[in-house]
Formats: sequence, structure tokens, C-alpha cells
Amino acid sequence: MLIAHLSDPHLRPKGQLYQGLIDSNALFDQAIDTLLALDPQPDIVIIGGDLVDEGTAAEYETVQTALSRLPQPVYAIPGNHDAPDAFRLSFHAAPYIASSGPLHFDTGTDWPVRVIGFDVTVPGDHHGDIDDTRLDWLAQRLAEHSDRPTLLLMHQPPIDSGMAYIDAYKCQNGGRLAELLFQHRNIERVLCGHIHRAMQARFGGSLLMTAPSTATAIALRLHPDAEPASVSEPPGLLLHYQQPGQPLLTHWLPIGTFPGPLPFF
Ligand SMILES: [Fe+2]
Repeated sequence: MLIAHLSDPHLRPKGQLYQGLIDSNALFDQAIDTLLALDPQPDIVIIGGDLVDEGTAAEYETVQTALSRLPQPVYAIPGNHDAPDAFRLSFHAAPYIASSGPLHFDTGTDWPVRVIGFDVTVPGDHHGDIDDTRLDWLAQRLAEHSDRPTLLLMHQPPIDSGMAYIDAYKCQNGGRLAELLFQHRNIERVLCGHIHRAMQARFGGSLLMTAPSTATAIALRLHPDAEPASVSEPPGLLLHYQQPGQPLLTHWLPIGTFPGPLPFF
């Protein structure tokens, strides 16, 4: 099974730029071009939040126009830049979208690798949080199908990245999540977005990975007093690949077209 993982596209109304500078819509179209060129094709596409930048209906129109090019099922969770009601309306045709409450999803036994979308956003705020209700929901889900390799997808990482200006908006109560995950051996990855960079860490007995944005990167400034900044680094995506009898792999793939193919050796 091949799972394409996109994050933080920050789409804008047609014709408008992200932060007035970057054509995030065109960059997302390039990400989709990259996916459509893959052979074999991904079985599903997951999106780790911040589908849009301001949460307007016009931005979600751009989302649906772009996603309509993909033949695969698409599973998405919101990020802090999404607006829950507009997100819900935009994805109303998706069978996993709840009519109210957090925008979690669970692919259950539909695929060899299960993906649980865990909505940790706090409407109106930029940080995430894991309250009792959400933790209970996740505990109940994880009690099911405990032998199935599972990816947990959430927007804000529950750990620090070392970039103080984004860590101020991480997911709070990560310790509670780690405690729960330590009880399960089938969590192959904890997948996050939000920091617009690829990062890896041990977490809750699993491997936590963040996906890069399809738009801009948050500048890797590790000084505690660093000025916040973004940079226009090459965008990327993650591919999670499960072959029978093999460990689940994650490949990082830059988005775009590059010279090649060149001779092998
Ligand atoms: Fe973002």
C-alpha cells in the first residue's frame, strides 16, 4: 500500500498569492502533478492540515478544484489556518466527515495500513491541544484493530522542533498522548504538519515525522531568540510505503521536475 502525504498547502482564492508573495495554488498543483506521475499510483492521499490560509469559502473552492484532479480517495484533517465549518462544508461529500465536533477520521479496516486523522486544533487559536474528550476518542479507536499497522495523523506536533517561534504553537498535553501510544505496538508513525519542515523524533514508542509544506518552509532558526521567518525552499511530500512482510517505509520526495533520468551508476 502506498500513501501520499501532503501538508500545509495554504491555498488561496483563485488568482491570489499566499502572504502576497507565493503562488501556493500553483505549488499545490505541482504537488498533484508529482503524485499523478508516480507509478504505481498511491492508493490514498492524506493531507495534514492548513489546507487553506484564511479559512474562506473561496479558498476551499480552490481546494476542491485542485483535489478533483486526484483519482484517489483523499483524507484530510484541519490545521490552525482552517475554519472548521468551512472545512466541513467543503468536504461534505467525504463519507468520513462528521456533521459536528472534531474533524477526526479513521480508515478502519478499509486498507492494509490504517490511518487515523486526529483533529487537535483549537478553533480560533494556533496551538493544538489534547483534551479528555479527544484522548478518550483516540483511546477507543486504538483499542480496535490493534494488530493493524496504523498511522496517526495530526496537525501540530506534540513536541518542540527547536524553532522557538513555532513551538509556541505546538500541540499541548503531548505527554498524555505519548502515554497512550506507549500502550500500543502497532503505531508505525505519528505524522504531523504545522512546522513546514521534515523532522523526525521518537515519540510514544513510535516514530514521529513531520511533512514539509507544499508551499513555503518555516526557516530553520534554532536560536531561542531567532526572528520568525519563512523561506521559499523546495517543497516536498512524504510517501509511506507498506510492502507485505516488510517494515513500513517513508520516503521524502521533493516536488517539481528535475534533470533526469540519468544513467544508473
Ligand atoms: Fe501551515
